[in-house]
Amino acid sequence: MRIGVFCSGGDAPGMNACVRAVVRSTISKGHEVVGIRRGYQGLLEEDFWQEDGKSVMNLRSVSGISQLGGSILHSSRSDEFRTENGQQKAAEILNRHQIDSLIPIGGNGTFNGAVALSKHWNGQIVGCPGTIDNDLLGTDFTIGFSTAVQTAVDAVDKIRDTADSHVRMFLIEVMGRNSGYIAIHTAIASAAEYACVPETPTKIPDLLKLLHKLKERGKTSVLIVVAEGDESGGAMELHQQLQKVDSPYSSRFVILGHLQRGGPPTPDDRLLASRLGDFAVTSLVEGVTGVMAGILNHQRVLTPFPETFAMHKPIPSEYFDLLETLSR
Ligand code: F6P
Repeated sequence: MRIGVFCSGGDAPGMNACVRAVVRSTISKGHEVVGIRRGYQGLLEEDFWQEDGKSVMNLRSVSGISQLGGSILHSSRSDEFRTENGQQKAAEILNRHQIDSLIPIGGNGTFNGAVALSKHWNGQIVGCPGTIDNDLLGTDFTIGFSTAVQTAVDAVDKIRDTADSHVRMFLIEVMGRNSGYIAIHTAIASAAEYACVPETPTKIPDLLKLLHKLKERGKTSVLIVVAEGDESGGAMELHQQLQKVDSPYSSRFVILGHLQRGGPPTPDDRLLASRLGDFAVTSLVEGVTGVMAGILNHQRVLTPFPETFAMHKPIPSEYFDLLETLSR
């Protein structure tokens, strides 16, 4: 078997640990692995990892990479691959290079692409969830989420110091696309007062009421974590709206942005990536296709690609209740 592996979409810390697991697991089972650089776009340009003049990876190709953020295979979002012509061309390239199975590491766009590709190509595809957003069903956590939350919490802890000194409110925007997972986890872990997320309505009058209550309770600083996908438009927009009303705290806003995508992966992300990379290989060898490898309740599970992005991954209501109770 000749397995192609690539990273696609937004990079996520832990992708390297996953590539390492795929390469080592594949070789230990007596198969070959081709590293495809720059995701679907790299595939269309036949941009393969080269080692000793060959386009197959070996055990040493992935030495010392588990602790690195980013992706040694690089990543991309490809407009060309979104077209039918692009998908046909990708299938023809895979056949020509005798690649008979693929492990894409990425998020919902990547798996949508895998579904499209399988209409033109007969090979097997088993994906690994690599995205900081944790917005895929079929796995409790995605590779990169733990590190992104760790980075955001580090930042919020620092912001708390200056917020306290100046009796200020800070609105801190985190990533997550349409999901509030990074925001709610960051808010609880950093003892923030509130989280504005797409999963719950954000209303200025309610926020104002809360701020007055917090002031009465003697809070000397207020931290609000805002998901970039919140319907309010984000931290800057909320800050502007709050300036127009009678807010008891003066405010500042911070947008953490791509900072959350970098840095060494946490042990949780490395472990998850290692388990899923190995599981994807095992599943391919067993003949499985069209699924994402995930971990639910500590168990390895396979979920058909379309089900991983068919609906919004809900955040348990317990998280919102907990934040409210603890932020008093
Ligand atoms: O999907 C990962 C993610 O970082 C999202 O949280 C964010 O909305 C998006 O990618 C940013 O994409 P780009 O790096 O293309 O600006």
